[in-house]
Amino acid sequence: MSRTSVVTGGALGIGGAISRRLAADGDHVLLVDIDAQAAATTAAEITAAGGRVETVVGDVSTDETVAEIAAAVERHGRVDVLVNNVGDFRPASKTFLHSKPEQWQRLYELNLLHVLKVTHALLPTMVAQGAGAIVNNSTVEAFRGIPGHAAYSAYNAGVSAFTRSLAVEVGRYGVRVNAIAPDLADTPQTSREAMLRGRDPELVKHWIPLGHYGEVADYASVVAFLASDQARFVTGHTVPVDGGTLAASGWYGRVDGKGWTNMPDHP
Ligand SMILES: NC(=O)c1ccc[n+]([C@@H]2O[C@H](COP(=O)([O-])OP(=O)(O)OC[C@H]3O[C@@H](n4cnc5c(N)ncnc54)[C@H](O)[C@@H]3O)[C@@H](O)[C@H]2O)c1
Repeated sequence: MSRTSVVTGGALGIGGAISRRLAADGDHVLLVDIDAQAAATTAAEITAAGGRVETVVGDVSTDETVAEIAAAVERHGRVDVLVNNVGDFRPASKTFLHSKPEQWQRLYELNLLHVLKVTHALLPTMVAQGAGAIVNNSTVEAFRGIPGHAAYSAYNAGVSAFTRSLAVEVGRYGVRVNAIAPDLADTPQTSREAMLRGRDPELVKHWIPLGHYGEVADYASVVAFLASDQARFVTGHTVPVDGGTLAASGWYGRVDGKGWTNMPDHP
């Protein structure tokens, strides 16, 4: 029987790759996105490739959109996979000292609140089915400090903590809950060009242990694994998909090729 899979933020970036991957694997994808045009474009690509997709357009942090997702799931009569992918480090400020409560509120809505809302809306169906897989999108910054984005990292640490606790709660119903922690995806939100800010692209080889940026398909394949029966004994974990940056934690290959450094004044 084919699966019904909900992907939030499923039009562009990592979410777009997840929608395309799950559809290519045979799922009927409910693609949820705030950007109507991008959602239509990705849906058309999926359909052209022979996949099945339906779009729900709206802001996933609002009750209206959550109700629309729930209604779409009800029409299908089931939901097998929920990928809570939406997240953003913006609205950003230079430092926490410069930040404003309105920014924290929006960061909360975009990074943590919708995960709770959509999960709460769809979980009863998974529990009734006695099966389901939820995959949340966290970030390496849930585990590593990121100066200037303290609120963003706090809410994503919340996503990983929610993932662990909910997994323990719903395991008895056959529902698994996991997350990925990306770093360095070349997406509209964090494009390679914007991250390099004019620096020599060769530096990437020294910066990232695997020597290159992630392609969106690299994140989607880990989500596909966690959502699949291949991961049927895995629950409660956040899997970094980061080219090794979390392991390196501040260690870089020296540009002169002479080993590694953790000192900022090395060439
Ligand atoms: N890009 C990275 O390197 C990176 C690193 C760490 C974590 N992440 C996480 O991965 C996830 C995806 O990141 P990305 O870089 O692909 O993002 P992106 O901004 O490039 O794409 C996000 C998608 O979500 C949609 N969207 C945004 N806000 C929405 C809302 N309120 N309701 C519905 N749809 C909405 C956008 O239209 C777009 O299609 C996020 O949770 C992000 O925090 C990404």
